[in-house]
Amino acid sequence: MPRFATSLTSLRSSEIRDLMKLATQPGIISFAGGMPDNTLFPIDEVKEIINTLTPQQQQAAFQYGPTPGLPSLLDSLSQHLESKGLPVSTNRLMITTGSQQAIALLARAFIDPGDRVLVENPCFIGAISAFNANQAQLTSIDLDNEGIHIDQLEKETQRPNKAKFLYLTPYFHNPRGILYSAERKQQVARTLAGTDIVLIEDDAYGDLYFYEEDKPRLTPIKAANPSGLDICYTGSFSKILGPGLRLGWLLLPESIYQRCELIKQSLDACSPSFTQVIADQFIRRGMLQPYIERIRHEYRRRAETMSDLLQSTLPPDVQWNRPRGGFYIWLTLPQHIDASAVLKRTIDQGAVFVIGKTFDPKGTQHNTLRLSYCNTNQEQIKKGITIIANAIKK
Ligand SMILES: Cc1ncc(COP(=O)(O)O)c(C=O)c1O
Repeated sequence: MPRFATSLTSLRSSEIRDLMKLATQPGIISFAGGMPDNTLFPIDEVKEIINTLTPQQQQAAFQYGPTPGLPSLLDSLSQHLESKGLPVSTNRLMITTGSQQAIALLARAFIDPGDRVLVENPCFIGAISAFNANQAQLTSIDLDNEGIHIDQLEKETQRPNKAKFLYLTPYFHNPRGILYSAERKQQVARTLAGTDIVLIEDDAYGDLYFYEEDKPRLTPIKAANPSGLDICYTGSFSKILGPGLRLGWLLLPESIYQRCELIKQSLDACSPSFTQVIADQFIRRGMLQPYIERIRHEYRRRAETMSDLLQSTLPPDVQWNRPRGGFYIWLTLPQHIDASAVLKRTIDQGAVFVIGKTFDPKGTQHNTLRLSYCNTNQEQIKKGITIIANAIKK
């Protein structure tokens, strides 16, 4: 019998992955995954890039690259991040293999077995598993429509067993869908200042806003550069170009960067050069912004269709919000309704979603669920939401 590491006992199999298997059954309408729509990928643009690379660029694409990323991409991405007000020149930027790796690197850099870390409830499942893989003790803080509860955060920062970091997804949260208010972000920064608790700010969806008026609320906490606070900012090409590229990034204070670079060296030496060359050219040739605008428009259309249908079909005691960006709508059912039972009924009828318990670090929520509108067309949304609304009413 092989003797596996004890740290593996803290890894639970992802219910999302199990559900993905169901989601791939032919004909099932899936509101489960958080992946972009296959039909929206910029395939023609990427073909054009590949066909017009210089011999030098072609060779670089096949070669190993520096651990922190190809210099050309670091440079073009810096400009993209600077346009969001991020302090690129006073921090260090690193390309990672998806932002999942960025989160995993930070988990490795900070967590000793049993260390406390603070997360939102609900929380992105990939972060929960990265923290569990390092045997962290997760303390979760509730969310409302503006962000995490500051009174709970204050209490947690004052405990003697001090948490190592707080992990937040303030921009079109996965799974909750919310966009933090500017005030709540300021309160988070004020509460953490001087505590030695690092802030991990995950911005995987910020570019996918639907309404121009929300732009001021999208300014990262890292951009305000609050004093007395170490902020690790993570981002990704997955939702704005394609997850198959496996490219994300980390913007870090120097001392944290050095640790993460060492850990990354031991993991994969470098992220894929091939896709780094493509992403770099995508930015340099001015293709990124028009593409983001195109998908923003399409996801907004889907979000609005789904919201209109939910409004007309769901019982009034189901709580949810119209999304303002990103991929997700979060439903809170009345206490007596079990989301797992609803899921069983909808699978029989040909539609699938993710139950909220999956994203609950405590694993106790039974009456919540996440709907994604990113990977279904208008017709599927109409059919699938009718199935789900009927299953909730039963
Ligand atoms: C909030 C959040 N962060 C990070 C990721 C990781 O994405 P990737 O590793 O593809 O960059 C995801 C993916 O769904 C996500 O929803």
